[in-house]
Amino acid sequence: SLLYSNMQLPHRAPALPPSEVPSKSKVVWEKFSHQSNFQRLLYHYGTFPQDFSWGVSSSAYQIEGGWDADGKGPSIWDVFTQTPGNTPANANGDVACDSYNRLDEDLYMLRALRVKSYRFSLSWSRIFPDGTRSSLNQKGVDYYNRLINGLLANKITPMVTIYHWDLTQALQDRGGWENVDMIDIFNDYCDFCFATFGDRVKLWMTINQPHSIAWLGYGLGTIPPKIKNPGISPYIVAHNLIKAHAKAYHTYDDKYRASQGGLVSIALNADWIEPKDVNVLREVRAADRALQFQLGWFAHPIFKNGDYPDAMKWQVANKSELQDLSESRLPSFTEEEKNYIRGTADMFCINHYTTKIASHVTGQLSPYSYQHDKDLSEAEESDSPTTDIKNQRAVAWGLRRLLNWIKEEYGDPQIYVTESGVGTSTEVTVDDTDRVFYYKTYADEALKAQSLDGVNVKGYMATSLMDSFEWLNGYNIGFGLHHVDFTNPNRPRTPKRSAHYYYQVMKDNGFPLPDDEKILYGEFPKDFYWSTASASYQVGNSIPNLFQQ
Ligand code: NOJ
Repeated sequence: SLLYSNMQLPHRAPALPPSEVPSKSKVVWEKFSHQSNFQRLLYHYGTFPQDFSWGVSSSAYQIEGGWDADGKGPSIWDVFTQTPGNTPANANGDVACDSYNRLDEDLYMLRALRVKSYRFSLSWSRIFPDGTRSSLNQKGVDYYNRLINGLLANKITPMVTIYHWDLTQALQDRGGWENVDMIDIFNDYCDFCFATFGDRVKLWMTINQPHSIAWLGYGLGTIPPKIKNPGISPYIVAHNLIKAHAKAYHTYDDKYRASQGGLVSIALNADWIEPKDVNVLREVRAADRALQFQLGWFAHPIFKNGDYPDAMKWQVANKSELQDLSESRLPSFTEEEKNYIRGTADMFCINHYTTKIASHVTGQLSPYSYQHDKDLSEAEESDSPTTDIKNQRAVAWGLRRLLNWIKEEYGDPQIYVTESGVGTSTEVTVDDTDRVFYYKTYADEALKAQSLDGVNVKGYMATSLMDSFEWLNGYNIGFGLHHVDFTNPNRPRTPKRSAHYYYQVMKDNGFPLPDDEKILYGEFPKDFYWSTASASYQVGNSIPNLFQQ
């Protein structure tokens, strides 16, 4: 059961009112969707504030390998990928980038890139092989201590995701996230991480992309634990994930904040959604609903009032009634739980990749939807399209709009873009011009949001440090700034063009006006004489000569 602390913590902001339907944040579409192509693509020169946090991200299962090294227990991803037929060429993370054995090489890359921060995740089953404290594996803890100490020695700030999808199999055997016991079990794991690493780690994310865990893991069933029960399981799972996050946040507050002084959040993911026609209210409502179902599902309880967005509650309740169910398939929180959940994040962490278009008729997100719920549609039946990473389009201006939407919707929080990147075929090795273009335009749109729109953007993490095990795409698609040769047992890492480019962006802290353009925008020397001219014959004798004193 949850432990409630009655104490009102001073740093917890008062609850925000629930979103309207559609939310007031529709001003973002009103403001931007009428932009001309020219305005939308206009390049903005400028730099971020000095303390802007530039970084790169990774996650444990994708890079570490060492799947059973030194006492590590299996995770659901080990079991899934070791079962033939689940991934292309039966790819798995048994070795991956071998980061478990190549820590120094990872640190070398980070140092060479001169990142300010590195976002990585802890493998739960490396620390607790059976998921619980009694199975503690000190060697696993040692690995993360070496990593954290290595980062700090190089003045790189660690940003730690406590749980990035690789649930300990032993916990899945107990029902995984459908089991409410997971709330306490997760809390104890987080408690251990805060106690063990919190003297040096000041930026925490409890869970990565809970939407993907709930929807892909328990709705579509495309990722482990491969449960295909849309409409029921994702809502139960999300309910438990939200409570588990909130409980871990309170544990930090109650036991660690005073002495450690860090920040705790959760990494949520959202695509930007454009309405099919911004002039039609129903379409704007559909776009807003899509954002509420993806981002608001988790962000509305945590950042607003402890409860799901009305757009979601109404929609699922209506659909449930049409199905002759006695109650909504969306579970509800008690008042006590709402009060416990709201305000349990110190900053807004958002993973963002692409933009989609919503239509009210089908509820489908087109043309590149890979996450979709039947509950999204206003029509009674709709198909669930599932597309993949290859169809994610680079739509940089979507990031600016999403950041504006988050500012409007969640009361102007500090925002970290904790993932942003593009996948390319791993046949393309170092010549990744698509990725250079992606970072050039996406980071510039983040800059526009920060400096033109006043959004409180505090950091940007490129996904990812290097090519790695790309989940359902195995090693066919890479997001890396570095290429990794997976056919070579030494897993050599080579910087791509994008690594060189991103290095420069970070070094410049954005996009200062280039030298060859300064002539078009520059200033004259301080003692330069500004004046007007005349000729005596033209003006007669009435104007004295101003420059003869
Ligand atoms: C989001 C996930 O958090 C990350 O692990 C993954 O690499 C990217 N999506 C790209 O697929």
